[in-house]
Amino acid sequence: MIHVEQNVFTLHTRRTTYQCKADGHGVLLHTYYGPRVGDDDLSYLIRPADRGFSPNPSEAGRDRNYSLDTLPQEYSTCGVGDYRLPAVVAENADGSQIVDLRFVRSEVRPGKYALEGLPAFYADAAEADTLVLTLQDRTTRLTVELYYGVFEESDLICRAARIVNHGSAPVRLLRACSACLDFPSDALDLITFDGRHTMEREPSRAPLRPGVQSVGSIRGASSHQHNPFVMLCEPGASEDYGLCYGAALLYSGGFEAAAEADQFHSARLTLGVSPYHFCWTLEPGEAFTTPEAAFICSPDGFAAMSHRFHRAIRRNLCRDPYSGRRRPLLVNNWEATLFDFNADKLVEIAQAAAPLGIDMLVMDDGWFGKRCSDFGGLGDWTVNEEKLPGGLEALAPRIHALGLDFGIWIEPEMVCEDSELYAQHPDWAFRAPGRAPTRGRSQLVLDFTREEVRDHIYRALCKAIRSTDIRYLKWDFNRSLSDVWSAAIPPERQGEVYHRYVLGLYDMLERFHRDFPDLLIEGCSGGGGRFDAGMLYYTPQIWCSDNTDAIDRLRIHYGTSFCYPVSSMGSHVSAVPNDQTGRVTPLETRGIVAMSGAFGYELDLSRCTEDERAIMARQNADYQRYYGLIHEGDYYRLTDPFADPQYTAWAHVSADKREALVSLVTGAARSALPFVTLRLKGLDGSLHYRVNGSQQAYSGSALMHAGYPIPPMRGDYQAMQLHLVAE
Ligand code: DGJ
Repeated sequence: MIHVEQNVFTLHTRRTTYQCKADGHGVLLHTYYGPRVGDDDLSYLIRPADRGFSPNPSEAGRDRNYSLDTLPQEYSTCGVGDYRLPAVVAENADGSQIVDLRFVRSEVRPGKYALEGLPAFYADAAEADTLVLTLQDRTTRLTVELYYGVFEESDLICRAARIVNHGSAPVRLLRACSACLDFPSDALDLITFDGRHTMEREPSRAPLRPGVQSVGSIRGASSHQHNPFVMLCEPGASEDYGLCYGAALLYSGGFEAAAEADQFHSARLTLGVSPYHFCWTLEPGEAFTTPEAAFICSPDGFAAMSHRFHRAIRRNLCRDPYSGRRRPLLVNNWEATLFDFNADKLVEIAQAAAPLGIDMLVMDDGWFGKRCSDFGGLGDWTVNEEKLPGGLEALAPRIHALGLDFGIWIEPEMVCEDSELYAQHPDWAFRAPGRAPTRGRSQLVLDFTREEVRDHIYRALCKAIRSTDIRYLKWDFNRSLSDVWSAAIPPERQGEVYHRYVLGLYDMLERFHRDFPDLLIEGCSGGGGRFDAGMLYYTPQIWCSDNTDAIDRLRIHYGTSFCYPVSSMGSHVSAVPNDQTGRVTPLETRGIVAMSGAFGYELDLSRCTEDERAIMARQNADYQRYYGLIHEGDYYRLTDPFADPQYTAWAHVSADKREALVSLVTGAARSALPFVTLRLKGLDGSLHYRVNGSQQAYSGSALMHAGYPIPPMRGDYQAMQLHLVAE
């Protein structure tokens, strides 16, 4: 609900309130974001004060108490006396870097705004409303439209900015944040999700310290190293207690999330496209739209924040072709064969998969061009007939005849120098004049800012997809950008290339969505190198990590789950010893870990023993039985695998709290371990539950407060599941 009264803008969700106010000078002040309060003007909380070296705008006259340097700003400016993080920096035609924004008007619209060419949460008027606040620099007439999408039920507040040059001279944007959020106190912890290839999104928590602390990516992709989702919380906040804020950027390119604790112990968070390598020229009349930022404030701990992000992402962000139906349980041949496969080998895997209840075979990298290793072939999207005689048209019917659907791997944004595409169009890859290009995995990045490049790749991929019945694409991206220079863009606009590249990527993904509405696309970037809310708009699941080791995955899923729902985490059972770690874990454990996600297999099923196949058939039946609970239920982190690797537990609880699935995995075996009593979460304290069909029914309140005794388990990395059903 949006309440507007005398330039006070109050956004209410079910449990939270967000407020800003245009003051007498037209400066848009941020007055509050936190647990739900009334419509009162909360600017009484702001205490203007005369502080040394905090200057005063000329309209303030002799009033030295009024300074942009101390007042909480809704979209912070630059060059006019606020020395904290700016939300916008622009170089004007006269060379000055000054943007002084003052309130012009407001507008409330039913439903949620959309952003042209960019991912955004969506909703109709029954679920969300939009507020647009327009600010303008009175000298240059640079205008900023601030968009707010208010989702009452999920407590989601979305923000974006559209910066329009209404002046008569060009302006160069040097920084354009999606949002700026000021906090009255810097007594906050910042939580970021960091890592590396094969070990993504490890939470890292630290109190804000004076100055700016930031995470980001300058890789052209959101990256394995830092995720575009961060949290701020009260120092004591935990899973179940305390005030916390989650902030997600819907962007798949380079980003920056920066928090600043200032001299007066207030704090600011800015979120947006990375300002490094960014310079965007706005000619008169032109506009720049930032990606969307999404915020959820939870007055009662991390779990509630995660549940609301999960629900909003599932319902209002992912455009899932399987919405209302089950997504396919798939087997992927990558870890089974790498590049060394042919049609018969794939059919053999599919034959072994069919009786196990697997729905789809996915043919991974290596089916096209001269792709026998990762040194060549990318860019040539025609079938490698040596491996697949007769092409996809011959292979797919053999898979379909076994009752399986068929999907393929693609990496549309890349080209190898050893390819026909590169021989014909060397200038289609990013490389700077006079410089030898930097390779990553022996490949170069195609210049997706260019429509002709996108058109060519799109046509080639469409031909392959239309040649037979393909239901799924795995969209991979296996290197970071470098040598970013586009032959199609003039030198003075090269600072636009990184962002234009992402717009090109989104354009391609949108074409697939438009032309193949039933096609499921799984995002991937060497696993989780582009696991972000922007991609989830186009690809409702993303290969979570190239690390398929079940024990490492516990940590990866734990960190990922703070923002992203388990239904978005591609997660497979692979062979042991594990390819990435060499660890041996029981097949049951690998199944229990992987089925808490978009489940599948990634091993040579034709080589599995009868015993293994029996376990897999049971796993698949369990997955189908618990599908609704896993994909739609509330996800509870019951333990922190970073704090206690001895055992890790999590639960999925149905919305009505009548059913729950608890999973638990132990660490390496040790003798005479203490007893484990697991306290459950999310149950209905007034109900009684049978656990795995037990005679005895346990009270929900006892299970949550006193716990459930976990039987001792012998051996390394054991796992068990408890299925709770209310009487
Ligand atoms: C990286 C992906 O994450 C893997 O699963 C696999 O598809 C390879 N690329 C193929 O090159």
